[in-house]
This record gives sequence, structure tokens and C-alpha cells, in this order.
Amino acid sequence: MATRTATWAYRDRFHESFARTYFRRFSTSLVSSIGIGTYLGDPTDAVDERYGATIVEAFEHGCNVVDTAINYRNQRSERVVGRAIDTAAVDREAVLVATKGGFVPFDGARPPNPAAYVESTVADPGLATRDEIVRGNCLAPDFLEWSLDRSLENLDLDAIDLYYLHNPETQLERFDRSTVYDRIEEAFVRLEARALEGDIRHYGVSTWEAFRVPDSHERYLSLPEIVRRARRAASRAGASSTHLRAIQLPFNVRMADAFTVEAHVGPDGPTSALWFAADAGLDVFTSASILQGELANEGTIPLAVDRRLSGDTPAQRAINFARSAPGVTCSLVGTGSSEHVPENVAAGTFEPMGAAAFDAVFE
Ligand SMILES: NC(=O)c1ccc[n+]([C@@H]2O[C@H](COP(=O)([O-])OP(=O)(O)OC[C@H]3O[C@@H](n4cnc5c(N)ncnc54)[C@H](OP(=O)(O)O)[C@@H]3O)[C@@H](O)[C@H]2O)c1
Repeated sequence: MATRTATWAYRDRFHESFARTYFRRFSTSLVSSIGIGTYLGDPTDAVDERYGATIVEAFEHGCNVVDTAINYRNQRSERVVGRAIDTAAVDREAVLVATKGGFVPFDGARPPNPAAYVESTVADPGLATRDEIVRGNCLAPDFLEWSLDRSLENLDLDAIDLYYLHNPETQLERFDRSTVYDRIEEAFVRLEARALEGDIRHYGVSTWEAFRVPDSHERYLSLPEIVRRARRAASRAGASSTHLRAIQLPFNVRMADAFTVEAHVGPDGPTSALWFAADAGLDVFTSASILQGELANEGTIPLAVDRRLSGDTPAQRAINFARSAPGVTCSLVGTGSSEHVPENVAAGTFEPMGAAAFDAVFE
């Protein structure tokens, strides 16, 4: 597990190479505000090798956050992360390892008959009913526990620092919102129990649409309701306080709705996902921080914004936009290309935008 001592020692090793606020607090740890993601890429040995090299390089050059999910590249991404942690000249306890459960993962390769695979892996052993699996997404507690155990094995870790429920809004395709909240609460009860057992340190909710869309949207989920459910789950599991600690959502200069759409009701009325999270003490990890590579191309960041951002390359300026937003602890950037690691990590040598400059972008 990431510890205070090891992450502070990691920060001491690297902080002089970076600008102020590059390392940020996450619970008792200090983490880099740029993290490495492992979503894209084919499920092949060649891509495994490339990811392995980039993750080690990132760890050894000042990035101590890695994000994966059991279903990414058919469990290959988690296994690569596990090997990279082992190989890198960095203490495991200096790294925040985040993964996700909620999609039925294939094992190494797509099976010839995916429906039969899901049936024999999940439904037949009774981990979930067929009805609970919506486009591969499943929040059934027994399935999640099975998934978490597999993630621990894939990552070869005793504990996961941050375990997300993965895109729970997928369930809204089949079930009404109150049923989905109930299912999320049941999942949280199990995650609270696993946190008490020491298998996970914190948990979170990772979404693609739920938290950044207006409340009238069919995929909307309310953050205040998620927090209420987490508190209830903690008390049902016998925890003194909830282990819900983070959310993950897409955020970049062209997808800024987590800052602009006020869909979550706080004490002062509706507010954005980013502000609600900040006020509720939830850390935010941004995904798609460079719009899946698009913002690395010259001319793709709107000129009026680009002028206010620091960084030598468009990718660096896009990363710096994402990690300048209020409440953001870390911006994740996926890369399986070695040449992109130094460029992306070096975005952290520039100051992020101040709050006033960030707000001014939207005026
Ligand atoms: N919960 C969710 O639904 C969800 C969804 C999406 C992502 N995520 C998480 O967030 C992470 C980041 O998002 P993402 O990977 O989708 O998108 P991203 O980080 O915005 O972009 C990744 C893409 O950008 C390219 N790239 C990286 N650095 C570059 C550079 N300096 N110059 C040019 N191209 C560059 C990468 O190619 P190379 O591989 O060639 O470097 C890759 O194709 C993911 O890896 C994943 O961990 C979560």
C-alpha cells in the first residue's frame, strides 16, 4: 500500500525538478499531479512490452500514480502494471495504484464466444444473475469481490490503494435510477468491508458520463446521492467513516463539462462535479486528459485558452489545463510510447494556471 513515509520520500527525490504544486495530497500520501493510464492499445504482447517500459520510465521520472482496470486490454494492463511495479527502481509503497471493477473481463484475449464466456465465468458460478449484467457491466457484490481478488492477483499486490466502481451509469440502460443507487450501495457495502479487511485503502467511482452530464440526462448520477449511499454503506459495514475518497471523470480543454455543468446540489444550490467533489473532500482524477491523443496536435486547443497555458508542446499545455482545474488531484494520461513519457511528465515542470486565470477561460 502507498504510505505517507514512502510517498514523501519519493517527493523529496523528485520535487526539485518540478514546479510548485506538482505533488499533491491524496489522503496521507503525496502523489504526482500527472499519472499514467493504461486503457488504449491492442491486447497483444507487443503492446504489453511497450506499456511495461513506459510505466517503469514514468515511475522512475517523477510520476507515482498509475491507473488501470481489470477489463483494460483483457486483464493485460493490470498484469503489466504488476510487473512494472516489480521492475522499477521505486518502492511499491511510493506509488498510488488505482484499478477498477465493474466490467466482466476477458482473460488475455477476446474469447471466440463472449456470451458463453460471460455465462460460464459469472452466471454459472452464481457471481451474478444474467439480468445484472448490462453490456458487460455488473455491480453485483459477489462479482465485484471475485473481480477484486483477481485484480490483486494480476497486480501481484497485497492491497490496492484506490479501487473504483467502473462506469456504474451503464446500469441505467436497463434499470431505473433508484434501483441503480441501491445496487451501488450494495457494492459499496462490500467495498467498505474489503477496506476494513485491508485489501483496499480507499474506493471511488469512475465514470464516463454520469457526473458531468445535466441531471435531465439518461446517464446522470447525483454525486450527493453517491456520498449519502457511501456513508450508509460504511455504517452498514461497521466502518466508522466511509472509505469513498475519489471520483474519476473525463476532463480536458474540449470536454470541460465537469466544471461548467452545475448538476449536483450542494449546501449553496446546484454546483459542478468538480466543485461538489472539492467541497465533499473527494479527490478528482481526470481521464482522457489530452482527449485520447487529439490535443497533442498543434492547433487543437482553442487559441484563446492555449495562450494562457504553459508548456512547450500542445500535449503539455493540454495536461496543464486539466491539472489546473479546481479539485483535481491528478490528470491521467495514457501512453504506451516511450517518447511520450518525458514530454508528458515534463508538463509538471510548468506552473498550472491559477484559479483566476482558469475561471477567466470560461468568461
Ligand atoms: N472510467 C473510464 O471510463 C475511463 C475512460 C477512459 C480513460 N480512463 C483512464 O484515463 C486514462 C487516460 O485516458 P485515455 O488514455 O483514454 O486518453 P488520453 O490520456 O487523453 O490520451 C491517450 C492517447 O494519447 C496518446 N499520447 C499520450 N501522450 C502523447 C503525446 N505526448 N503526444 C502525442 N500523443 C500522446 C497516447 O498514445 P501513445 O500510447 O502512443 O502514447 C494515447 O493514444 C486511461 O488510460 C485510463 O486509465 C478511464
